[in-house]
Parts: sequence; C-alpha cells; structure tokens
Amino acid sequence: MRRITLLLAVLGLLTACDDTAKHPPERAAAASAMPADPALAQVYDTSCKLCHANPASGAPLVGDRAAWSPRVAQGSDTLLDHSINGYNGMPPMGLCMQCSEEQFLALISFMAGVQLQQ
Ligand code: HEC
Repeated sequence: MRRITLLLAVLGLLTACDDTAKHPPERAAAASAMPADPALAQVYDTSCKLCHANPASGAPLVGDRAAWSPRVAQGSDTLLDHSINGYNGMPPMGLCMQCSEEQFLALISFMAGVQLQQ
C-alpha cells in the first residue's frame, strides 16, 4: 500500500513538471537566451542559467524586464553585493566562483536587459 502511495506521489510530481512544460513564450525565450560573448555564454550556461532561466527557482528570469527593473533600481553596488555575498535564494557568487566583478556586471546586464555601469 505504501508503495502505491509513493508511486502516486511520484506521478503527481511528474504531472506538476509537465505543467511547467506548457510554459508561456517568455519562459521559452528565457530557456534559449544566451550572452553574445562566447566566454560569458560559457560562464552563464554553467551558473546563472540554472536558476535564472528556470521559473521554478524563484529567480528573476533572463529578459524579464518587469522582474528586473525594481532590482536594477537598487543600483550596481547592491546587485554586485547580492551576487557576491548571496541574497535569499540567490547563492553566493551565483555558483560562479571564478567570476570577476566585471563578469558579474556583464551577466546581470545581460539578464536584466540593461547596461549596468560599475
Ligand atoms: C541556485 C540558483 C541561482 C543561481 C545559480 C543564480 N541565481 Fe541569481 N538569484 C536566484 C534567486 C532565487 C534570486 C531571487 C532572490 C530574491 O529576491 O529573494 C536571485 C536574484 C539575483 C539577483 C538580484 C538580487 C537583488 O538584489 O534583487 C542578481 C543580481 C542575481 N541573482 C545574479 C546572478 C548571477 C550573475 C548569477 C550567475 C553568476 C546567478 N544570479 C546565479 C537564484 C540563483
């Protein structure tokens, strides 16, 4: 009996995942957005993208200007501080341990769709 309950729970999870597969276009766009610079794209692909292109993570999605604008309004210093030291569900360094401040600013600029200055 317990096994059946477990199976039902797993099926429930799979169905939940299936729901997110039928995502609106902006989520599909987030999944395929990549920085133009190849080196930055590489970094992005193995760090920020894991959450910032994943609606389930709670992170502001890449290209979602409405989600980013109040964050951008905090200014580059705060955004850098939150990237380096972490902020709620945002892990310190955003999983990019080797990233420089310039790279963080470039990555945030890319995701927010605005050019941030240091
Ligand atoms: C493990 C998931 C995860 C990864 C990887 C990740 N982030 Fe985040 N990030 C989040 C979440 C969740 C938030 C929203 C935090 C909140 O507002 O509570 C966030 C928020 C942010 C913010 C906004 C902070 C603020 O002050 O509003 C910035 C900037 C940011 N992330 C940059 C990055 C960069 C740059 C990378 C890649 C180097 C990255 N993140 C990788 C999960 C992640």
